[in-house]
Amino acid sequence: MPTLGVDLVEDIRALKRERNAVILAHNYQVKEIQELADFVGDSLGLSYQAAKTDAEVIAFCGVHFMAETAKIVNPNKTVVLPDLDAGCSLSESCPADKLEAYLKEHAEKNYYVIAYINCSAGVKALSDVIVTSGNAVKIVNTAPKDRNILFVPDQNLGAWVTEKTGRKMDLWRGNCYVHVEFTRQAIERIHAEWPDAPVVAHPECTAAVRMLADEVCSTERMITFCKEHPAKAFVIVTESGMLHRLRREIPGKEFIAGPTDKCACADCRFMKMNTLEKLHDALLNLQPEIIIPESIRARAELPIRRMLELSA
Ligand code: 13P
Ligand code: SF4
Repeated sequence: MPTLGVDLVEDIRALKRERNAVILAHNYQVKEIQELADFVGDSLGLSYQAAKTDAEVIAFCGVHFMAETAKIVNPNKTVVLPDLDAGCSLSESCPADKLEAYLKEHAEKNYYVIAYINCSAGVKALSDVIVTSGNAVKIVNTAPKDRNILFVPDQNLGAWVTEKTGRKMDLWRGNCYVHVEFTRQAIERIHAEWPDAPVVAHPECTAAVRMLADEVCSTERMITFCKEHPAKAFVIVTESGMLHRLRREIPGKEFIAGPTDKCACADCRFMKMNTLEKLHDALLNLQPEIIIPESIRARAELPIRRMLELSA
């Protein structure tokens, strides 16, 4: 009797070949998608993969802004996102019209706008340079010294970058609804249980949590940090999908989910909207497709290309 999951995986592989498609997946995707993807990584790694692919179709298993970034650098390719509702609370916290109005209202500041990649194409089009958690420190260090900086949309990541670079920045007041659920008390409790396990946290966490971490870094850097560190167990303070990637790539070590006050299951509901079934249908129908008006896409491409050059 055929096994349902196996057939679905085989069907996706066959469709992928037929469509000349590449499957790119973020570290927070469900296990089944990570195992099937051609590349699994953080926002930076995924941006580079999208920029260099020869495939005709990109099936992007992540959230909307990530698939949009892939489309911005590939205007002639078809980019599909298995579930078009896979958004991001950070991206939503900074609508392009509000940012545009803010920049007009504060025109005297002549802001150099640095946008964390977790934002819409419209926001990217209003920005000077894009950063990810993996290159924000490096790129902010290159920002013109004689300009005021506005950092959008994540105030926590922005505050972390300021701590690391000493660059004063005005911060948009957005945050990630998943990462702000981790609290100092919850991390102190798990640390008391696992005193020898280094705490590894994403920079989208609050300052109170970051202060308790042994390492604050992007999801990709978490892999190298845990590989290279001599410890045998780690507390991972980020979205739950990361644990799958860590356990798969570093089987000899133990990874403990950083708890929130409520539970030990920090799921991003947007990331988890993509399923194997939806990925299958997206490759079959080439829908839902990411479409961006050319005037916005062309303007959004400049700060992304600047980022790719600066962080190479
Ligand atoms: P990374 O680029 O570190 O993977 O982060 C993306 C993200 O959405 C974190 O919530
Ligand atoms: Fe956005 Fe947070 Fe989900 Fe990352 S984890 S995609 S920042 S809502």
